[in-house]
Amino acid sequence: MADRSSFFYFCTIMKFPPWTSVEEAARLLRQGEVVAIPTETVYGLAGNAFEPKALAKIFAAKERPTFDPLIVHISDISQMADIAKDIPEEAYQLAEAFWPGPLTMILPKKDCIPDLCTSGLPSVAVRFPSHPVAQAIINASGLPLAAPSANLFKHVSPTTAEHVAAQLSDRIAGIVDGGPCQVGVESSIVSLTGDVPTVLRPGAITPEMVKKVLGRVAIKESTSKPGEAMQAPGQCDTHYRPQVPLYFGEVPANAVLPENTVRIAFGNYQGVIPAAVNLSVTGDMMEATAKLYAYMHDLDDPKYDLILVDPIPNQGIGMALNDRLKRASIKTLP
Ligand code: TXA
Ligand code: MG
Repeated sequence: MADRSSFFYFCTIMKFPPWTSVEEAARLLRQGEVVAIPTETVYGLAGNAFEPKALAKIFAAKERPTFDPLIVHISDISQMADIAKDIPEEAYQLAEAFWPGPLTMILPKKDCIPDLCTSGLPSVAVRFPSHPVAQAIINASGLPLAAPSANLFKHVSPTTAEHVAAQLSDRIAGIVDGGPCQVGVESSIVSLTGDVPTVLRPGAITPEMVKKVLGRVAIKESTSKPGEAMQAPGQCDTHYRPQVPLYFGEVPANAVLPENTVRIAFGNYQGVIPAAVNLSVTGDMMEATAKLYAYMHDLDDPKYDLILVDPIPNQGIGMALNDRLKRASIKTLP
């Protein structure tokens, strides 16, 4: 509980977001607090990866079940060996090719990483973000930082500091504003703990890119069964879902749409109703990825009954958009 005289307490009462600086964030993190930080993918809710009490605060603030493990963020390739062991050569090849950047690797964990961080798994997720503010905070704190996306469990991930403030302001010690996220979708996750390097979550680093470096890659098909154990944690079906029902893909001809339906368009696709916004008029996948979550946040307003999202080609980074939108989508229209 915050000290009643603290600035944090004042902000909580006044409902001001607890905006903070890199230096102050680093100090709070060293004290075991949790702070939202920008990364190039989405904003993260960071805490000291070595400190179970800080990790517990992350799970509590997000209302995230502890069976869903956290990613540990570092600011130099050499720090990988501080938290992971038996690191295969392929991990260094991927690190050289894609770090800093939107790639997370699953590696055997060292004992210094608490079980709470990995949900009891013998492996740890490691990522070296490219956002200069994320790097500055990791460097200034001198700690590896565990950070899930800075949203309430199962909600849409934040791509601006304002998105974080709207969900978590009164639950966390600080928010560092680093501007809108450039990538806009969570990092690709590649496991290096099995026989073949395996993509567990698609992102901006595509399976083709991984294959180009390693010569081989497998893709884990999402099991996506609620209640299923740890095969692909965090990949449950209702992840990423806004409060307003969202339907992704081609609308069946016989569908009866509610009056207050809005449409997120992609390219020049001919939708059944006029578009409210367009992810990319020219069909540019990177532009669409950077905008998607912001549009989902903007249109997640009770004045709407349904959000339609146009089909998006399932190629390259489009695989990440299809993955998230399929999870976000209701399965049939009313
Ligand atoms: O882009 C990102 O990765 C963002 C930013 C903040 O870095 N973080 C993020 O974290 O998306 P989160 O917690 O929303 O997703 C982390 C996911 C887990 O849900 C789980 O699927 C996977 O990473 N994960 C973590 N540790 C794992 C492990 N040891 N084995 C398999 N999957 C793991
Ligand atoms: Mg998340």
